[in-house]
Amino acid sequence: MSTTSTNAALEVLFSHDQIARRVAEMGREIDRDYVGEKIVLVGVLKGAAIFLADLARSISVDNTFDFVAVSSYGKGSRTSGAVKLIKDLDNSIEGKNVIIVEDILDTGLTLNFLRGMFEQHQPKTLRIAALLDKPSRRVEKIDADYVGFTIPNQFVIGYGMDFAERYRNLQDICLMPPDAPELSAG
Ligand code: PRP
Repeated sequence: MSTTSTNAALEVLFSHDQIARRVAEMGREIDRDYVGEKIVLVGVLKGAAIFLADLARSISVDNTFDFVAVSSYGKGSRTSGAVKLIKDLDNSIEGKNVIIVEDILDTGLTLNFLRGMFEQHQPKTLRIAALLDKPSRRVEKIDADYVGFTIPNQFVIGYGMDFAERYRNLQDICLMPPDAPELSAG
């Protein structure tokens, strides 16, 4: 088992180098798909902030950023499907090529909500880039156009992803140990 330098107790699922290579590939895919176009990258706070920062720098096509935030409904109440917008787009996306940038596509409730909301603004194109995809958890019928890694139902932290707001700064994507005291502390 390899461990992250930031916290020797955590098992690394994807190392910083693996992530960097995959994100660079995703950037090249996007470049190929949008030759001669402009893109608006819309990051979903907070988890996607680090991924967006790296993805944007892997893209050569002219791009700008925007961010939205949705309610972080506790995992327990998430089955209610109620997603609430906390921070809206700063700029209009009408007629623009939009890529929603997410750290993880899980049940799909968040991205399904955002996709519906964005479509009402009539973008020229609307796609989704998700660093991680957990298809086994899907509730809504939604897929990402660009996926970094497909994973089973594992609790992951690092590279923007948190447990109770911690660990977002880990360079690697790590597995949260199922017996971690934090998980039972609630
Ligand atoms: C995570 C992730 C996605 C969402 C995906 O956000 O960043 O936005 O969950 O889950 P879903 O597909 O089941 O809707 P979280 O609520 O943990 O907030 P964060 O981005 O601030 O960490």
